[in-house]
Amino acid sequence: MRILWLILIVPLQILGLRRTNKVYEETYKVYYNYADMTDRLQRFSQKYAHICSLVSIGQSVEGRELWVTRITTSPTADVPGKPRFKYVGNIHGDEALSRQLLVYLIEYLLTQYGRDVRVTELVDRTDIYIMASMNPDGFEHAVEGDCIGSSAGRENAKHYDLDKSFSDEDKHFRKTSEDIPEVTAVMQWILEKKFVLSGSLHGGSVMATYPFYDGSSYVTSGLTTDDALFRHLTRTYTENHPIMKMNNPDCPEDPNKSFGDGITNCLILKSWGMQNYNYFKGNCFEVTFGLSCCKYPPASQLFIEWTNNKEALLAYIHQAHIGVRGFVMTRSGFGLPNATISISGTDHNITTWMFGDYYRLLLPGRYDITASSPGFLSNTVKNVPVIEGKATLLNFTLEGPVEEMLLLDPSEQPMITNDRLSTPGPPTSRSPIHTLDFQHHSYDDMEMFLQLLSAIHPSITYLKSAGRSVQGRNLYVMEISTNPGVDQQGAIAYGHILLHTYT
Ligand SMILES: *[C@@H]1O[C@H](CO)[C@@H](O)[C@H](O)[C@H]1NC(C)=O
Ligand SMILES: *[C@@H]1O[C@H](CO)[C@@H](O)[C@H](O)[C@H]1NC(C)=O
Ligand SMILES: *[C@@H]1O[C@H](CO)[C@@H](O)[C@H](O)[C@H]1NC(C)=O
Ligand SMILES: *[C@@H]1O[C@H](CO)[C@@H](O)[C@H](O)[C@H]1NC(C)=O
Repeated sequence: MRILWLILIVPLQILGLRRTNKVYEETYKVYYNYADMTDRLQRFSQKYAHICSLVSIGQSVEGRELWVTRITTSPTADVPGKPRFKYVGNIHGDEALSRQLLVYLIEYLLTQYGRDVRVTELVDRTDIYIMASMNPDGFEHAVEGDCIGSSAGRENAKHYDLDKSFSDEDKHFRKTSEDIPEVTAVMQWILEKKFVLSGSLHGGSVMATYPFYDGSSYVTSGLTTDDALFRHLTRTYTENHPIMKMNNPDCPEDPNKSFGDGITNCLILKSWGMQNYNYFKGNCFEVTFGLSCCKYPPASQLFIEWTNNKEALLAYIHQAHIGVRGFVMTRSGFGLPNATISISGTDHNITTWMFGDYYRLLLPGRYDITASSPGFLSNTVKNVPVIEGKATLLNFTLEGPVEEMLLLDPSEQPMITNDRLSTPGPPTSRSPIHTLDFQHHSYDDMEMFLQLLSAIHPSITYLKSAGRSVQGRNLYVMEISTNPGVDQQGAIAYGHILLHTYT
């Protein structure tokens, strides 16, 4: 074996073909096209492999990878206790500045880790995902110096505006995943990762927008119950940006445009936008920022734009740490995935991630907070104080009639019964639990049981949905292994059980 390696490696070294992970110093003077950006991102992930990994979450219409750079400690594993943050740039292919700034941000975080206290803390405590370009096809067609998008590149290669393709509500706007593979990939990524906070970066105007109810479904007001929080998140960016802060972008194309305090609610009729998908479907608070008057400024302006945005980009990531956070657990201490966290005074619930961890962004104040999960008794903690800056830690333990049954006699194995809704009587009166009920179970029963199993055995199971059936039922896959849900590079995945469901 060793000899074989030598035979393989030595000639490569002689030919100088060994892959180098040298990353050339940033010049801030040129835009990177797809090939250059890919090369740079790959080199980053090799050189800084201890805090950086690169994955593709899918491909564009023309087959370009949708790269995501992840920056955190343990960058290839899913770990509990860190809020997940994302930036998405270049969703409109001709709005090129964001794409380039995000590559700079990646380099800045990687090179400053261990040097700059603030960056080190951010990378240690946050799971940061950066998608510099969501529309790599569009970018290849866009033209440097085109400020108003008069050339091509805004849309994807099938001529769809990606930001306007997130509406899965309106059937007139429904597109297939061949039309908008970029959106399909990002939607799935959002649902899977349950991001806590996100920034979507645009160009062509200097302003910020955040989610707003579609007027048709909310009679009284389009504002969400998280409006004040969204304003705070938005201001964190704008107040750390020297031009946005001045409140007078003075865009030559639109000289009269003043934008109030820099914030507009986004109500694009009949089109949901990515930010609304994040908020209403994805557990995630997302604000859209327009970074510059010019969509694709000349490369000579890149350094000054990086200087303008650097503080804002960093300060905004920090906001993933405000509010309240913790774990929702069973009495035996196992994390409960997908438990609901609801907050007094808002109608917007979030859910826990696979380890039972949750992160609810909130402004300072006092809140009654409720954790609930099917099959468990919900639990409310009143008057939880939230202070500025750092999240309050709050764990919930949920008592469950179902769990009690399973834990009744430690010598007995956990098992299935069908009567999950029966009220728990005194333990002695309960009928003995059958190891297995040999009968067909409905989809709901199966779903409930799988969720329960994964809640009770989180260290060896990982439940996810591989998709949905025609009638919208989840196609559950339960991974049973010693390291569930962890992408182990090079490890062979085994022990996956695919549970087919027909109803
Ligand atoms: C800007 O405002 C001024 C004064 O109100 C007006 O005369 C001018 O036409 C406006 N320019 C544009 C481009 O709207
Ligand atoms: C998570 O819970 C929500 C309701 O709180 C439910 O709609 C959704 O289907 C659940 N997802 C999974 C994967 O169990
Ligand atoms: C939020 O969760 C609570 C349970 O804690 C539920 O009663 C309420 O209907 C949920 N609200 C929304 C808007 O889903
Ligand atoms: C909350 O639970 C987590 C996970 O079990 C634990 O590490 C942490 O110390 C707990 N925090 C508090 C404040 O109880």
